[in-house]
This record gives sequence, structure tokens and C-alpha cells, in this order.
Amino acid sequence: MDDIIVKLENLSKKYELGEAKIVALDNINLEILRGEFIIIMGPSGSGKSTMVNMIGGVDRPDSGSVTVFAKDRTIELHKLSDKELTRYRREKVGFVFQFYSLVPTLTVQENVEMIGELVGITGKQLKQRARQLLDEVGLQGRYDSFPSQLSGGERQRVALARALVKHPEILIVDEPTGQLDEETGQKMVKLMKETAKKYESTVVMVTHDVNLKKFGDRIIRLSSGRIVDQEIPIAKEA
Ligand SMILES: Nc1ncnc2c1ncn2[C@@H]1O[C@H](COP(=O)(O)OP(=O)(O)O)[C@@H](O)[C@H]1O
Ligand SMILES: [Mg+2]
Repeated sequence: MDDIIVKLENLSKKYELGEAKIVALDNINLEILRGEFIIIMGPSGSGKSTMVNMIGGVDRPDSGSVTVFAKDRTIELHKLSDKELTRYRREKVGFVFQFYSLVPTLTVQENVEMIGELVGITGKQLKQRARQLLDEVGLQGRYDSFPSQLSGGERQRVALARALVKHPEILIVDEPTGQLDEETGQKMVKLMKETAKKYESTVVMVTHDVNLKKFGDRIIRLSSGRIVDQEIPIAKEA
């Protein structure tokens, strides 16, 4: 039950800007359990995005290791070539960002299908998967709409359907409610939690919003690139 899906060991990352060195991550150690909903909090610049980008295989550490215990294999991200890292990202990780990153010239359904195609799902199966996910996020009947015809909350639900169409083992979510009002944001995260559970995705979500803490199985707090606190919320919902 308590199997680990992601293990970060002594993870560090610096950025060099001319003379200045910015320590983005400073010796991070963390184990994430399969099926967990992890929330990463902390002030702006504390390393939240850098940390989730390491887990998502978007960025690489200077030192330390990122190990992913996927269902079919153990993957040591810090040892992979660029090509292998791209394969990891495609196969195993779904992403949702603050800005919806939908393609404006494609319909809602095409936006979702596009991500499925990347992992080789095609034809009828792809169409069916895309529509099922769109139904699950409450966008039935909007398959042929364009992103510009949707509200912010609806666009973010398309982004969620998109991220889940490949049934990723890990879902990385960075400030998903930044563009949404309070109520829409709460609904979005509740939906994300339920849908991720259904597809057995482990979620790592960055947020500033303390009102979203109740959705987390565990809250990790970062400050200046270090984990300074971990909390398991008492008042859990859904
Ligand atoms: N590509 C980059 N080049 C230079 N500095 C960066 C880069 N990405 C992040 N940083 C710096 O690393 C630190 C952590 O950034 P980030 O992980 O984006 O923080 P957060 O997501 O918590 O706001 C910040 O000081 C930021 O300015
Ligand atoms: Mg960030």
C-alpha cells in the first residue's frame, strides 16, 4: 500500500546569473507515495516550480537524484539522456499549468486528442478517451468549442482532461487556480482530486492558496529551496 512512486535524494539546483548564484533547491529529500495528493506551498521564489519540474523531467538537478518507481520500470531521471527524459515525460507525466496552454486553433476535443496522440493512442480509442474525460470534467456538449469560447474555469478543465488523457502515473500541477476566482478554483481542485484518483495518478500540486490545503494528503512547505515543514491536514475533504 505504502509504495513509493517518487524519491528525491539530496536534490540541489543552482542558477547562475552573471556573477550571482541563485540556490533554487538546497538538498531536498522527499518520498512521495503512490496515489498521494501532495501540495507544495511556500513564498514566491522558494523553489516550488523548480522542484516539480525536476519530478516532471522538465529540468535536471545539479546534484542528487530523482527516482521514479513507475509500474513497469524504475527510472533514474538524473541519469537519462534528453531523449530518454522526453520519453519519460510523455509516457508518465501529465501537466497542468496556471496558463491553460491550450492550442487556440484547435477545438476542445482536438486539444485533448493531441496529447493522446503523443503517446500513440489513435483512432476510435483516442476519440472515446477524449470524450469520456471531457464528460468527466463536465464539458459534455462542448467538444467542438474553441478555447476562446470557454470561461477560465472551463479552459482549466480542458487542461485537466488533456493532462489525464494518457492516464499518467504522475500529475504535475503548478498554480492551477492562479487565474480563477476562489469558488471556481476550489471546484477545479476538487474535480482534479476526484479525476486523478479515478485514473490512479499521483498528484504534486503547487499553490499559494491556503484554502486549497484541505485537498492535500500532505502539505510540503518550501523556503529558500529547503523543505521547512510538512503537514497532514486534519480537516480533510473529499
Ligand atoms: N531559468 C532560471 N534562471 C535563473 N534563475 C531561475 C530560473 N528559474 C528559477 N530561477 C530562480 O530560482 C529560484 C526559485 O524559482 P522557482 O522554482 O520558480 O520558485 P517558485 O516557483 O517557488 O516561485 C528563484 O529565485 C528564481 O528566480
Ligand atoms: Mg513557481
